[in-house]
Amino acid sequence: MAYKTIIEPFRVHTVQAIDLPDRDAREAALVRAGFNLFGLHADEVIIDLLTDSGTGAMSSKQWAGMMLGDESYAGSRSFFRFEEVVRDLTGYKEIIPTHQGRAAEKILFSVTVGDGDVVPNNTHFDTTRANVEYQGAEALDVVRAEGRDPAAELPFKGDVDIEVLRAAIEEHGTDKVPLVMVTVTNNSGGGQPVSMANLRAVRAVCDEFGIPMFLDACRFAENAWFIKLREPGYADRTPKEIAQEMFSIADGCTMSAKKDGLANIGGFLALNDSDWAQQARNLLILTEGFPTYGGLAGYDLEAIATGLEEVVDEKYLRYRIRSTEYLAETVHAAGIPTVRPPGGHAVYIDAKALLPHIPPHQYPAQALAIELYRAGGVRGVEIGTLMFGRPTDDGPDEPAAMELVRLAIPRRMYTQSHIDYVGEVIIDVASRASEIRGYRIVGQAPWLRHFTARLEPLG
Ligand SMILES: Cc1ncc(COP(=O)(O)O)c(C=O)c1O
Repeated sequence: MAYKTIIEPFRVHTVQAIDLPDRDAREAALVRAGFNLFGLHADEVIIDLLTDSGTGAMSSKQWAGMMLGDESYAGSRSFFRFEEVVRDLTGYKEIIPTHQGRAAEKILFSVTVGDGDVVPNNTHFDTTRANVEYQGAEALDVVRAEGRDPAAELPFKGDVDIEVLRAAIEEHGTDKVPLVMVTVTNNSGGGQPVSMANLRAVRAVCDEFGIPMFLDACRFAENAWFIKLREPGYADRTPKEIAQEMFSIADGCTMSAKKDGLANIGGFLALNDSDWAQQARNLLILTEGFPTYGGLAGYDLEAIATGLEEVVDEKYLRYRIRSTEYLAETVHAAGIPTVRPPGGHAVYIDAKALLPHIPPHQYPAQALAIELYRAGGVRGVEIGTLMFGRPTDDGPDEPAAMELVRLAIPRRMYTQSHIDYVGEVIIDVASRASEIRGYRIVGQAPWLRHFTARLEPLG
């Protein structure tokens, strides 16, 4: 290309108006929502970076494909197309559709994980952790040490610490470790990629102990793109070939099609073990639906199949990763601490470094997320002690490893000027960082408390 600007490789075809609530309206919304940004109405938000999950824009090809949806209860044509695309990509024998990623997790862990077991993962995502713990098992994070250091600049900070993994298996015993998972990219660790070499090293440990290996594959295409850019030997391979190699290393995967499926809903569990698949299908019928639709409409299966084909397009991935990097560079250049290098789907602001005067049990990242909304109507999400900290009986919460505000970028949704606006809001709020105060929780649920907790500001 003669020019260096990487443009959005699409034209806008349909538009949705954004309401532009003023500051008073935003303040009232915060109070009503108990200072929990999950409690806001979407119309109260100007730029919504709460999540990249299911929030992207589908292509005209996906919408056209939805018109072909076959809604037959059993044996739908749309299922067989979905199955073919997923099998071609992953190589796994058994393809089980689910209504989203956590349903695949719930079913997989119900079949494989028991009371007192331990499941290692580079970093468990919140639903993955909760689903492991719901089985009475321990969700053990074994990401390499630098993966917990926001400032460490490394190409593959999502890698598993192989020695920690081996030590955990030796300590607990192989009969207590039913499977090992690797999350690509590592969402809760800053959207950082995992190298092919590390996937192979995890596989070698799993083989040594006879333990199955699964991928949490939500962002497999973004991970494949990072491998292409950063890992020697992959520059000339296509993203699809790299993804196929990643999948071939594991025995199965859970997938939320709301991310790299480029769909608004859906997911799947794919695996090679036919016995586990049979048990999983039995549970699927109980909770999701018949195995050829698994909680989805036929048209959803079509949208996912087309999305999985589109997501490995080089033009799309180049734009996707570059646009995340663009926001990260704006913020970084202003001296604001972020997780480095930028991840694939989101920019993560390091609230621990930006707000050192707020201790973890006063939720510095939540305080920062609230301020970004208050100032500019930008909604992000706290990934810190509100999400991952542990309440104790007689003292402050046990803190999370990091205090981050994640600004996740929906796929193919916002233009560069939207992102420029977000950069301006962040820089303005950061300039007043020392004035920001912490919060306390006034009500919380026993599981996944960050979704519904109510908070109030501290004096
Ligand atoms: C790494 C990871 N795993 C699992 C999930 C769960 O997927 P879903 O929201 O479709 O249930 C998510 C969702 O954000 C995720 O990022």
